[in-house]
Order: sequence, then C-alpha cells, then structure tokens
Amino acid sequence: MRSTTVLTLGAATALLGAGNVLADDIPTCSLDKKCPESAPCCSQYGQCGVGAYCLGGCDPRMSFSLDSCVPAPVCQDKTYKMDKASMSKIVDISEYLGDPSKADWVSQGEPLSYNDNTLLTMPKNSVGTVLASTTYMWYGSVKARLKTSRGRGVVTAFILMSDVKDEIDYEFVGSELTTAQTNYYFQGIPTYANSGNISVTDTYSNWHEYEIRWTPDQIQWLVDGQVGRTKLKSETWNATANQWDFPQTPSRVQLSIWPGGAASNAQGTIDWAGGAIQWDSEDIKNYGYYFATFGEITVQCYDAKSPPGTNKGTSYYYNSYRATNDTVVDSDKPTVLASFQGTGTDMDAGKPSGTKGGSASATKAGGSKGTSAPNSIPGAGAAPNQVPGGGSGSVSGGSGSSSSGSDGGSSAGGDSGSGASSGSSACGMNGFSQSCDDGSGSGSGGSSTKNNGVKTRDVQGASALAAVVGIVGLMVL
Ligand SMILES: *[C@@H]1O[C@H](CO)[C@@H](O)[C@H](O)[C@H]1NC(C)=O
Ligand SMILES: *[C@@H]1O[C@H](CO)[C@@H](O)[C@H](O)[C@H]1NC(C)=O
Ligand SMILES: *[C@@H]1O[C@H](CO)[C@@H](O)[C@H](O)[C@H]1NC(C)=O
Repeated sequence: MRSTTVLTLGAATALLGAGNVLADDIPTCSLDKKCPESAPCCSQYGQCGVGAYCLGGCDPRMSFSLDSCVPAPVCQDKTYKMDKASMSKIVDISEYLGDPSKADWVSQGEPLSYNDNTLLTMPKNSVGTVLASTTYMWYGSVKARLKTSRGRGVVTAFILMSDVKDEIDYEFVGSELTTAQTNYYFQGIPTYANSGNISVTDTYSNWHEYEIRWTPDQIQWLVDGQVGRTKLKSETWNATANQWDFPQTPSRVQLSIWPGGAASNAQGTIDWAGGAIQWDSEDIKNYGYYFATFGEITVQCYDAKSPPGTNKGTSYYYNSYRATNDTVVDSDKPTVLASFQGTGTDMDAGKPSGTKGGSASATKAGGSKGTSAPNSIPGAGAAPNQVPGGGSGSVSGGSGSSSSGSDGGSSAGGDSGSGASSGSSACGMNGFSQSCDDGSGSGSGGSSTKNNGVKTRDVQGASALAAVVGIVGLMVL
C-alpha cells in the first residue's frame, strides 16, 4: 500500500549508492514549485537538474516547462531473460543517455547475476537496488517471474510507474511471505484505500509469475495465470476532480528491493513493512545482503490502433499539464541526449564538436566539460552532487524532509481485492483487444497525506562491498 511514495524514496536514496554525495543544495521540485530554468528537469525523486534528470522519471508537471523532460521511448514487445548475457543490458544510471537500443534497464544500486537470474541486492545499511525499464508501456501486459526477499522491513516491488506518477504495484513485505499486496495510484495522489491483497504460497521460496494487465478500462493482477484482483476504470470516478482516478499514462517497469523498515522512515512505513529492518539477519550474515531474485520478464504492448495506447512512433510526450491519457502524444521526437548537459529543450547540449549527430553512446561523462553546470550525471564527473534524488530524497510534493506523512500502512479496504480468480476478463484470454468494456461505476477513495523522503546516508562503501560480498555470498548460496 504505502508503496509508491516509499518506493520512490527508497529508490531515491538508492541513488546515493552511485556516489558519495549528500546533496544539500540541489533544488527540489513539486507541483507547486517547478524547477528553475538553469536546472529545468524534475526527477522522479523531486530534484532539479539536467542530463539524467531529464530522462526516465522526469516529471513534466514539475519541470521548468512542459518540454524540459526528454520524450520517453515508446513501448516495445520484449522478453527480458535476466540471465548472465542480459547483464550487459543493465546500465548504471550514470551511463545512460536515453537510447533504449543500448540498454534494457537503468540501474541504481547493485544488481548481480546468479544462476542465470538477476539478483537485486541490499547490503547492510544500504538503500537497496532499483531497475527501471528504458522503454515505457502505455497499457499492455507485463509479467515477472520472481522470488521475493525475506525479513522484517525488507520490501520487494514490481511496479509500473509513469513520469506523472500514475502507478500500478505489486509489493511484498518480507515478513508476510504469503501475501502479494497490490495497489494503484493516479498521479501520485496517495489514496491508500486502493490496495488489495492476493494470497500466494511462500514468495521467498517459490517462483511465481506476477502479471499486471492494464487496459484503458481495467487493471488486472494475475498470479501464476490466475486473476487475483480486478479494478475497473469505471469504479474510479472522482466527482470532486471530475476525472477518472485511474492510471493512464506511459509507464516504466520498475523492479526493486528497499528497506521499508529503515529507522529513518516514518513509523507508519516501518509498521507497514513489518517492523524495523534487521541488519544482522541470517541473510546479511550469510550473503552480505538481502536479495530478491528476478527471472524472465515479458512486456506485451497494448498496441492500440489509435490513441490511447499506441506505440507507433519513437517517443511519448505530454502536450498538457493535465497529464491524462488524451494529453499523451505518440511522436517521432528523438529520445537521446548528446551529453549529460542536455535537456528536452537542448538535447545537443555538450555535444563534442565534430561528433556526428545521432545516438550518443553511453559514454561515461568523463570529460564533464560542463563546468559548473547544474546537477546532471548521477555519480559521475565533476560536480559531486549529481544524483537525481540523491539528496534528501523527497517524493512529489515533498519537502525533502526525512520524516513523513501520516498514515503509513493502515490497511484500508481494498476493492474487489483478494481471493483468486475473478476469472473471466472482458478482454479475453491474453487480451488487450481494445474491445474490453465494462459497465457501471462507483466511486472509491479516501485519500491521505503524502509521505516523504528518507534521510540519505552515505553508502558509498556499499557498492564495492556488495560486489565483493556478492561473489562470496553467491558461492554459499
Ligand atoms: C483515456 O482516453 C479516452 C479517450 O480519450 C477516454 O475516453 C478515457 O476515459 C481515458 N481513460 C482514462 C482512464 O482516463
Ligand atoms: C494485506 O495484507 C497485509 C499483511 O498481511 C495486511 O496488513 C493488510 O491489512 C492487508 N490489506 C488488505 C487491504 O487487506
Ligand atoms: C479526488 O481528486 C482530488 C483532487 O485531485 C483529490 O484531492 C482527492 O483525494 C480525490 N478523491 C478521492 C476520493 O480519491
């Protein structure tokens, strides 16, 4: 439930793993406080910068202008094996300039290969690991085979998240190994009443296939092919706002492990996560880290013939601050920055003279000629404070404070939640036929306040440690 927000802050701090930076002076951004022109892009974690800040997760509503963010690569049907060979397609955020042919996933933290699967690790006192897909899904199906982490305060997540913070989640609390928690959010508005549980056999010991099927009309969460929960768009009308509070914008797939039970989190979050995380647990002792194991992941695009839900062009962008599905444009705008100085309105910024146009490869911004440029490359180059979300990671709307909102994990009533198989989808078997249709509506709701950032800490050592421990640990494993 708590998810989103917390996930983001988990992820936010995870970024710190990339550098050793405590970024006190990075400008923050929110709906009420857009980024300045000099650092126009608002990252997923609510901080302003250029370069990587303008790529995946950049929120146009909070950025200097609607076109500050770089357009988002369109949906591609794809199976990600997550095996050893796939590791080269997982690229650290400090090395990715926006070309999805060069990387499947952008990472922060410590992904490791083990037995032809990918482990997301969380070494002692770290903030875990997050992978985000480089292409966006605008409706469709995504399936992930995974085994969760375990232990109080340890959270594994498999979610869809858009740049304007529409979100569809699976979250697993490490002390509740027989429950898959599901949730969704519209534009990051924290309505914790939207959660629902699906019962499942031990998620740490057993592989399961978790699927999110998302159409303009409904969301379905399936475990091992069985529908565990269905949420209809027609149930999400918000009469106050006069709109459907239903996820509807292009979203990245995000996989993560994060410390919901970290002492620096709000009490509500810690409670929701099953209690304070134990950094002297068996897994930490034996392997040096907590871990979640990811096998094959498959994305099937919705593939509509006309919007919403197309993937005909190269990229998606928003043409209105409303950021609803009718404001998403499937376009041919390019998605690749020439350097980490670039932004949506100046994609060639920092291009070495004499270079030909096209796709900047994922070079490490060694040169960093950018001088006193704004935050641009997380963890690379000159200026230290170059981690999106690096500092006091705040989530949308947040002041980057370390504590946060009320409400943590109170279990609100789900909707048609739990219990397996409501079976037949209006959309047919594997269907994303656009003809899925559903009737009648009723409201749902209840909202609450947003939580916020976690106090970041220096986990510089963690990265290297994880790599070393990783090898040792895996031998034991
Ligand atoms: C998406 O757009 C369509 C067509 O513009 C609209 O009818 C529908 O209500 C929108 N869906 C949501 C969830 O807002
Ligand atoms: C889901 O399961 C968790 C853990 O067992 C529980 O705390 C929460 O209340 C449940 N939520 C719903 C909506 O049933
Ligand atoms: C309806 O939308 C408003 C404005 O976005 C929001 O504050 C409120 O929480 C929503 N209501 C429900 C029941 O979710």
